[in-house]
Amino acid sequence: MDRLIYFDNNATTPLDPNVLNAMMPYFTTHFANASSLTHRAGRLAAAAVDGAREQVAALVGASAREITFTSGATEAINMAIKGVFEHYHRKGKHIISCRTEHKAVLDTLAYLEKKGAEVTYLPTDSDGRIDLDALDSAIRPDTILLALMYANNETGIIHPIARIAELSDKHQTLFFCDATQAIGKVGVDVSGTGPDLLCLSAHKLYGPKGIGALYIRRRSKRIQTGALLHGGGQENKLRAGTLNVPGIVGLGKAAEIARQQLTEEAPRLTALRDTLETALRKLPATAINGQGAPRLPHVSNITFRHLRADQIMFSVPDIALASGSACVSGTRDPSHVLMAMGLSAPDAHASLRFSLGRFNTEAEVNAAIGKLTTVVNQLRASSPIWQLHEAGLVE
Ligand SMILES: Cc1ncc(COP(=O)(O)O)c(C=O)c1O
Repeated sequence: MDRLIYFDNNATTPLDPNVLNAMMPYFTTHFANASSLTHRAGRLAAAAVDGAREQVAALVGASAREITFTSGATEAINMAIKGVFEHYHRKGKHIISCRTEHKAVLDTLAYLEKKGAEVTYLPTDSDGRIDLDALDSAIRPDTILLALMYANNETGIIHPIARIAELSDKHQTLFFCDATQAIGKVGVDVSGTGPDLLCLSAHKLYGPKGIGALYIRRRSKRIQTGALLHGGGQENKLRAGTLNVPGIVGLGKAAEIARQQLTEEAPRLTALRDTLETALRKLPATAINGQGAPRLPHVSNITFRHLRADQIMFSVPDIALASGSACVSGTRDPSHVLMAMGLSAPDAHASLRFSLGRFNTEAEVNAAIGKLTTVVNQLRASSPIWQLHEAGLVE
């Protein structure tokens, strides 16, 4: 069997071997509890956590005390949005978000709507962009939070974060940003005008699963948030529970490597992504979703009209891709992101997400282009709807 060509790095990335090496001693010799400051082994674990906090902070231009470790982005998102609502609902109950957010944000907001929150979901244009004037006019005196992602997980489309932060400051509201897919892929800097709260996840960054962080601005603002988990008072009483020291060390190392490699890696991935897109665009009736908007360097979402994404994926079992649609209880709904961008349900079902990563090579991209071109042509050749399309009877 051919080696798997892994183009599903937005779902999760492989662990960088250097990250694993950094983590290993904290499973074995340095296993102590980072809260056990009564002995040397505990203090060593605590020092490793402090070091990792510095590494994560450095990646986003924060200071270490602004970083709280969580079990991943989903927890950080819940902590940020629920925490802000809990502490600011007397000021107002209005939150602004967008239809193309990740389910972790949308479902958290849906939960809060049941608790009395009022949420405005901004639409996007066909390239997945939000209209900043529409955002400006949607902000009300009772708006307490803007919850808008840095870059979309299905399309890679990047929101204008600095402009959103300016609007947030102008209206004296808070800005939470889900930066899970952007961190380590593009430069993210919270030190100037930027989000007040921001989340990240190690497993999207060549780190381990089950660890992430929430940044909460402390320098220029006093932001009140609360804990989801109560108990031993770890993480400055914001996140109780024995610290996952190997995971935290892994996240720290992953952040350090991402920071070192960012300037070389982003253009390398852009070049690979462009090679892929240029070749696949030669196939008739294909479209790149969000092509007109700024995008992450490594993500491409392509519609192969009159086919189904799962048909294509089934025909290229040695290429790991994603259809970008949520699989809920065995039924495949068309992607809410692509539908929000105005794609028809058949076109959303015909769309594939390619998310490249650190370990992908040019040879893999070329091999994938060859296989996909053959498969798309073959599937269309035997498709009645494609024949109608060719005859000009359907668009
Ligand atoms: C944009 C975005 N937000 C949040 C998450 C959830 O991250 P985690 O798996 O760390 O909970 C993901 C993962 O798919 C994501 O892509």
